[in-house]
Amino acid sequence: MVSLTGKASEMTRKNFFMLVMLSAFLLFVTASSAAFADDKTPIWTKLCASCHDGKTAPDAGELRGRYRTVDDFTAAVKAKGAPCMNIVKNDEKIIRKIAAEIGIRNGTK
Ligand code: HEC
Repeated sequence: MVSLTGKASEMTRKNFFMLVMLSAFLLFVTASSAAFADDKTPIWTKLCASCHDGKTAPDAGELRGRYRTVDDFTAAVKAKGAPCMNIVKNDEKIIRKIAAEIGIRNGTK
């Protein structure tokens, strides 16, 4: 009997652990899909900022200083961007939008 109760409580602990893990996972999925669904979040924040934090890659301010026009910035993304940026390299429209988001304007040269 004692061992039965022991096994039962062990099962409960395992189930509880699984429940906690599942909740954490669901929370993560909901939180990340919410971030992508929010259209007001800049594309820069969603697609670029995680790497361009000033440590892994130059941050927004640094890029703004380096590229004076949207054209320069767009060309740099396509030519100098790391392979991990391939998802945006072929979409100039997005790159130009991002340039505007981080404060690069045409004609400020
Ligand atoms: C997975 C990480 C990652 C993501 C995401 C990312 N980048 Fe990069 N990016 C890099 C790395 C690494 C470099 C190379 C940095 C270097 O050479 O100093 C780079 C280089 C660049 C450069 C050239 C900088 C220079 O002057 O050499 C630009 C411009 C740039 N990224 C823009 C973007 C934009 C815009 C996005 C979002 C659409 C983006 N990156 C997303 C990692 C990333």
